[in-house]
Amino acid sequence: MTNYVRIFDTTLRDGEQSPGATMTSAEKLEVARALSRLGVDIIEAGFAAASPDDLEAVKRIAIDVGGAPAPGRDQPPIICSLARANKVDIDKAWEAVRHAKRPRIHTFLATSPIHMKYKLKMDPEQVIERAAEMVAYAKSFCDDVEFSPEDAGRSEPEFLYVVLAEAIKAGATTLNIPDTVGYTTPDEFGKLIEGIIKNTPGIEKRIVSVHCHDDLGMATANTLAGIRAGARQAEVTINGIGERAGNTSLEEVVMSLHTRKPVFGLESGIDTTQIMRVSKLVSNYTGMVVQPNKAIVGANAFAHEAGIHQDGMLKHHQTYEIMRPETVGVTQTRLVLGKHSGRHALKKRLAELGYMLNEAELDKAFERFKNLADKKKTITDADLEAIISDEIYQPREVFALEEMQVVCGTLGMPTATVRLRGPDGKSVVRAAMGTGPVDATYKAIDEIVGVSNTLLEFVIHAVTEGIDALGEVTVRIEGANGSHTLDAQKETETPRTFGGHGADTDIIVASAKAYLSALNKLLVASGDYGEAEKAAAVEAM
Ligand code: KIV
Ligand code: ZN
Repeated sequence: MTNYVRIFDTTLRDGEQSPGATMTSAEKLEVARALSRLGVDIIEAGFAAASPDDLEAVKRIAIDVGGAPAPGRDQPPIICSLARANKVDIDKAWEAVRHAKRPRIHTFLATSPIHMKYKLKMDPEQVIERAAEMVAYAKSFCDDVEFSPEDAGRSEPEFLYVVLAEAIKAGATTLNIPDTVGYTTPDEFGKLIEGIIKNTPGIEKRIVSVHCHDDLGMATANTLAGIRAGARQAEVTINGIGERAGNTSLEEVVMSLHTRKPVFGLESGIDTTQIMRVSKLVSNYTGMVVQPNKAIVGANAFAHEAGIHQDGMLKHHQTYEIMRPETVGVTQTRLVLGKHSGRHALKKRLAELGYMLNEAELDKAFERFKNLADKKKTITDADLEAIISDEIYQPREVFALEEMQVVCGTLGMPTATVRLRGPDGKSVVRAAMGTGPVDATYKAIDEIVGVSNTLLEFVIHAVTEGIDALGEVTVRIEGANGSHTLDAQKETETPRTFGGHGADTDIIVASAKAYLSALNKLLVASGDYGEAEKAAAVEAM
């Protein structure tokens, strides 16, 4: 058995299935590029049959990210699409992934008594037959086929051996074992994998994969137990986002293998120094804020503030630190660039951080950098990352913020005056009052944009310490008559929500930018403005 664990990232599929984590096609592409640079082996780029937009997003990733290796890598990642066990889904999955150099179709069918009886309304024999038939159908297009017995964690092990053996005979190359509802304990899950490896005919020449959910907070422990029992693919998401309590988080599994190497004796192909950057990217795009105490990527994960810890740290960093922050890309570097620093120095530092910008993007970033350098003495890597998220990874601005002014305080009502440039290039000004400065600003924006929506989440935090810090705002909105997305497993339609992100030293300006970026995504997705503009916007995204 090899000592290499394949990392299968499903941020763009299972991660995106979590309520509110909708990303635009452009954002998905950017995340896929970042995952490829991070070194994941397989990217599950989506569920192509969910909608034409989803199919298109998977296809773009297959062409772009699946077409060429990331710098420093030998081959591009495998690009995969999920498909229910039916021909229509498999056709759509193939249509999307066939453009990749290394395509994969991932099909699944539930095997637990409760799922077979109530969801599928099929008996066990029918399930075996359908699984084999659909794996064979997928195999007729694609050499690389993954099969998952959904809800394996609550399935009869003996039944799993039979279904998996039939899937193997039909051509499945990877057998993925999902603990769909996060029900098992590490001990149970490890034994389940051990039993599958021991009792399933033909499995010795196939890859066994594990896919765990975190409903009882045991996803990482279960995944590691499965790996110790012989699984050599781990299905994970960045920041652990996913259905309900989420999936196993990539950073926790990878850093466990890395930090406890003598215990596991295993390795992955992940460049751990990029973990933090990808974590921030996903958080900004999905609007799902990472809790400060989250392992590896939380803001406090490497903060050693308590007095006694600091004293210990000064004597030897290993007293309270099992991983170096640099290993996961948490840099303490203060960029010694100020007002007089040049474009070249900025380009070099951004490249060191993993951002390869083209000339136009660099121009934008440089302008923002100069602006910030006028207001703030030291500019850190975190500031640069906020600038990049704010300036470069934004949807096309259907409405762009030109100017704004807010009056607030204890005297009178908070009032905001906002000027936006609309899709026709004309400027429109509106003023509004609100319960506070953000409320007033959003009301003024609403008067101009005129798209009814619900603000689901508003989070603000300082990018760095210090009174002159950049404020970063993340919002999530849902359109009143917005589009829906199909959940592959529950087969239900859920409303699409849109995340927005903005950064500025003025937190009200950051709030306005975040709201506008979410509104712009909603407008593009719903086509609430001219078709020509929509096409141009989609093209630009
Ligand atoms: O949790 C699950 O069962 C899944 C499958 C589709 C692999 O996400
Ligand atoms: Zn799942």
